Amino acid sequence: MKAKLLEQKFGLADRTFVVTGASSGIGRAMAGFLAEAGANVVLVARRKQELESACIEIEKLSQCGYVVADLQDRGNLEQVATACTEAFGTVDGLINAAGINLRQPTDQVSLESWDKTLNINLATPFFFSRCFLEGMRARGYGRIINIASLQSARAFPNGLPYGASKAGICQLTRAMSEAWSKFGITCNAIAPGFFPTELTGPVFSNSDTRDWAANQTTIGRNGELDDLFGATVLFASPASSFITGQTLYVDGGFTAK
Ligand SMILES: NC(=O)c1ccc[n+]([C@@H]2O[C@H](COP(=O)([O-])OP(=O)(O)OC[C@H]3O[C@@H](n4cnc5c(N)ncnc54)[C@H](OP(=O)(O)O)[C@@H]3O)[C@@H](O)[C@H]2O)c1
Repeated sequence: MKAKLLEQKFGLADRTFVVTGASSGIGRAMAGFLAEAGANVVLVARRKQELESACIEIEKLSQCGYVVADLQDRGNLEQVATACTEAFGTVDGLINAAGINLRQPTDQVSLESWDKTLNINLATPFFFSRCFLEGMRARGYGRIINIASLQSARAFPNGLPYGASKAGICQLTRAMSEAWSKFGITCNAIAPGFFPTELTGPVFSNSDTRDWAANQTTIGRNGELDDLFGATVLFASPASSFITGQTLYVDGGFTAK
């Protein structure tokens, strides 16, 4: 009986999720969590080989497909969304995890890096989400999860466009919730602390910055990708039907200090 209730609230069987940035790091891990909870997943990123090997691993848990796409290309987003929908027929949820951090000193931030960062980190989560709106609205159900950051709330050196995009993600999440939650589509954001991925290579390859980051948490360590399991499945599942417009920091207490 209890197991049945848990399955009803947190199970994702028969649901299909699209995950961007799923060729590596946090997006790849989150796609695996969704599959563990029973969802079909469609992975999106540019690197075909990485997508293919992620797909082979995830297929041990659930059904998986992938679409190779450059999400910087705004004119192509509708086409990418159609390909994602065709994989399993419908899309119930989307994780917008594709992102970049180009790390330039503030005085040297170029127009190009500003545009690129704001485009992929902030514009794409909105415009790509909107591509799935019609289907979700028609079924009265949707789960959209954006990825925020410590830099949504804190300023770090060499991160100005990145921080601006990630602060924007929190407001984008509220605004999407304002517009779409009345149709059963919840929109939330997860703000990870420091997790070892390609994007945080410069932090983790230097023991000073790695230890500094760990020491800023109340728990005393940096994140491991499995630490994101609970928040991902919660926001993806029916259990979170009255939670929307929120940003949840999964940061070992970094922002509590
Ligand atoms: N790691 C952390 O500590 C941390 C903390 C807070 C927030 N985040 C956020 O978490 C998200 C995932 O980052 P990560 O740490 O997992 O880094 P990552 O391993 O570098 O992953 C970034 C992902 O984004 C994809 N991507 C980048 N540009 C793209 C484009 N133009 N089109 C399609 N896909 C693109 C990459 O795939 P391809 O290269 O194959 O296209 C890759 O799958 C980002 O939004 C990041 O800001 C990370």
